[in-house]
Amino acid sequence: MTTSAQPAHQASLTLDPRFTVAPVRRRTFGAFVEHLGRCVYTGIFEPEHPTADADGFRADVLELVKELGISSVRYPGGNFVSGYKWEDGVGPVDQRPVRHDLAWHSTEPNTFGLDEFMTWMRHLDAEPMMAVNLGTRGVQEALDVLEYSNAPQGTHWSDYRAANGSPDPYKIMWWCLGNEMDGPWQIGAKSADDYGKLAAATARALRMEEPGLELVVCGSSGRGMPTFGAWEAKVLEHTFDVVDMISAHSYYNNQDDDAGSFLASAVDMDRFVASVTATADYIAATKKSDKKIMVSYDEWNVWYLNREPSKPPTGDDWPVAPVLLEDRYSALDAVVFGSLLISLLRNSDRVASASLAQLVNVIAPIMTEPGGRAWKQTTFDPFALTSALARGEVLDVRVASDTYETAKYGIVNEVDAVATWDAETATLAVFAVNRSQSSAQTVRVDLRSFDADLAVTLSKTLTHEDPLAINTADDPDNVAAVDAQNYTLEDGVLTLDLPAMSWNVAQLAAK
Ligand code: AHR
Repeated sequence: MTTSAQPAHQASLTLDPRFTVAPVRRRTFGAFVEHLGRCVYTGIFEPEHPTADADGFRADVLELVKELGISSVRYPGGNFVSGYKWEDGVGPVDQRPVRHDLAWHSTEPNTFGLDEFMTWMRHLDAEPMMAVNLGTRGVQEALDVLEYSNAPQGTHWSDYRAANGSPDPYKIMWWCLGNEMDGPWQIGAKSADDYGKLAAATARALRMEEPGLELVVCGSSGRGMPTFGAWEAKVLEHTFDVVDMISAHSYYNNQDDDAGSFLASAVDMDRFVASVTATADYIAATKKSDKKIMVSYDEWNVWYLNREPSKPPTGDDWPVAPVLLEDRYSALDAVVFGSLLISLLRNSDRVASASLAQLVNVIAPIMTEPGGRAWKQTTFDPFALTSALARGEVLDVRVASDTYETAKYGIVNEVDAVATWDAETATLAVFAVNRSQSSAQTVRVDLRSFDADLAVTLSKTLTHEDPLAINTADDPDNVAAVDAQNYTLEDGVLTLDLPAMSWNVAQLAAK
């Protein structure tokens, strides 16, 4: 329950425009489109849909994607990429091969591929982040897809791109060297030593073709992997000099019905970043280097992995675009989701980019009916509002609040928060969650160190009396961030009243 007879707990945030973490990075607000379930087919791409444009893209979905405010899109996988032949997805559509996708036990029709993806991206103010297959393939195929994407006309693959309708190079500058290569589920999974050597060789070759690329090497596929830490160290021993970022992936859920721990998932995210960067800095030390390998948090979300819809088909059934990973998010999930964005912002000094996994239908903020409606999940608003309002510098916010004990992460604060300050427009944004399931919080934010006469321009709260409430096509606004008159601002002190189990944002600007 979000309302309570208990008196509100007291908390405070200490922030000062002089104490900054790093600039807000637009790449924090990336997303992920994988050939998985209905993310592509009947998600972003459905030529038969009433709103589809001439290229087959759903206009209703595109509108929602624009409103979400994503900065980049990782493509085409995920586990899918480790068995993918990118050439299958280019050229005349009627000549493209139909294949089994082993990762998700589905049939891949290949009616959507690299060119369709880049055409779709043209509708967005967002950057592509492409992944190469280092599961079943290697250096040559990575070079081929780079040549197809980026070489000016006059070579085999760039001429083929031109023949397929795109004479100008796409200039895709940001590439992932495979996906989750430590995972036993990954097609072509490898030891850290084998993967590190392959990733280094691939990175060197890609840079010979295009020196300015930004390259992401695979970290462990999760902090709980048995080789976590050792994997990062070994892989970076091989690749340190030729990559810019190392990936981190994490998914959280309340499958064990421990909402207290679940609400504190951002503690794990903070520790994950600290461990990966400590390992990267250890490798830097061994190499007497000042280089900072950054974290590409290129998969994060709430995901109920053991739920029925998350299980891929089996046996002789190889469906096209099956219902897979179609989690319906609750109010509780949305609060946790918002807190993960707080963690990503707080770690902006080392998290150079992040990709919400994924964008449509598959563990996604946007859902669709084939041929029908599209709607926002509960997680949509925290993402859209954080992306829209986080501007300028991330501030180093110190939180003082009551604490509670969790089974998974020890003692944690009831309140978590981050803030951003845009000196140019004199605009402050404060993002805060109340993890307490029973007590509201009165949060005091002393603004007297800001050299501006600030007034509240926006205050929104996401909460629900039923933590398990969800949105549906029939009731798309059941759980949403709504305007809240939950603040006072007197003598330079902002006071925010946060309901129990809530995600909140307040924006203030100079009068
Ligand atoms: O995002 C869903 C899947 O989760 C991705 O394909 C894989 O990389 C991860 O295990």
